[in-house]
Amino acid sequence: MSKETAYQSGFGNEFATEAVEGALPVGQNAPQEHPLGLYTEQFSGTPFTAPRAVNRRTWTYRIRPSVTHRPYEEMAPGLIRSGPFTEPPPSPNQMRWDPLPLPERETDFVDGVVTMGGNGDPAMQTGVAIHLYAANRSMHDRFFADADGELLIVPQMGALRLATELGILEVAPGEIGVIPRGVKFRVELLDRQARGYICENYGLAFRLPELGPIGANGLANARDFLAPVAAFEDRDGDFNLVTKFQGRLWRAAIDHSPLDVVAWHGNYSPYTYDLARFNCINTVSFDHPDPSIYTVLSSPSAIPGTANCDFAIFPPRWLVAEHSFRPPWFHRNLMNEFMGLVFGVYDAKAEGFVPGGASLHNCMAGHGPDAETFERASRAELKPQYLAGTLAFMFETQLVVRPTEFAMSTRILQHEYFECWQGLKKRFAAEAMAASKSR
Ligand SMILES: [Fe+2]
Repeated sequence: MSKETAYQSGFGNEFATEAVEGALPVGQNAPQEHPLGLYTEQFSGTPFTAPRAVNRRTWTYRIRPSVTHRPYEEMAPGLIRSGPFTEPPPSPNQMRWDPLPLPERETDFVDGVVTMGGNGDPAMQTGVAIHLYAANRSMHDRFFADADGELLIVPQMGALRLATELGILEVAPGEIGVIPRGVKFRVELLDRQARGYICENYGLAFRLPELGPIGANGLANARDFLAPVAAFEDRDGDFNLVTKFQGRLWRAAIDHSPLDVVAWHGNYSPYTYDLARFNCINTVSFDHPDPSIYTVLSSPSAIPGTANCDFAIFPPRWLVAEHSFRPPWFHRNLMNEFMGLVFGVYDAKAEGFVPGGASLHNCMAGHGPDAETFERASRAELKPQYLAGTLAFMFETQLVVRPTEFAMSTRILQHEYFECWQGLKKRFAAEAMAASKSR
């Protein structure tokens, strides 16, 4: 690991890190005069008065305070949309999309974001927006920060370097990166092209789910989350700072890199997590447990047990259930399910759901295995089976995901998706059963 991308491990820990010796004050947050001439700036991700267990704030020691930029001016949003989502009326149909085509023109991470849908409203600090991104160049002279929510980035193709004001993270397909609300960052491509998914969470920050009877360990373990160590840029030039604020994009000129934090301490920081570290809990007897057993991170709503958004994954794992239909059964839910596929094959679909693609099953929309999967799983020999080389995920959210105009009109929308269930035949044979009983 290069010094640039050194990490500290833990989730929500009180980290302390300095890139230059003596930059981090000892014993107090805001000395009258900083010994190295740095500015002190507190950066809060929760109200000051949030309960201690969920309170998030970081003290930064930076070359210039965040206020040193020219005034913001609104800029064109491209295909980025925001709550409240009011473009087309939401449809009760099941929906599925092919992967987003890779850009032909030079496109950086911010230009490459396309919003598929969402719910809630950043003005109410509730709901999510779901975006895809596809890019082929690094951000050079501009930086981005999102005041509307935190960004959970799920790369599907190409590794990214997330140069943030609190340090540098690298994230590749199979991992996730989370940029908290307001953190300034630049995305560099470590491969020729990059594509993936983003959950922009307007609500309470993602946290680890409670474990209940599972106990003190399991699912995603806190020690496997990585936060960056301090790394700063002392760089002057003509740069732009792009901010998403109340659904719109704004641009401000800035004459220096805003990634100029030399030291920081606190518990509000970006992080990465390798999804291969997820400790799956599943049945060792019978039936298909609810997918909540695969929850990596959860953004709660005000209602206990009702998530603003859960992030769940379906990684490589053993299937051992006896006398059971092993793939997900047919179901209809209150919650709304947006799914993506990072690599491999998802066990509930024979074809059509491909890496980089997406599906949306909203409130009470019937869905489940396609006809081919149903036939195969109904007759499968139930010896232990290892599902290898697969990684699907779900953003499951309380409120209906309202697709954008782009999502409903794009040529990557699969209008024939419903066909995958039409081969499910009537199998009920009451008369034959009655006849056999009366014999
Ligand atoms: Fe589902």
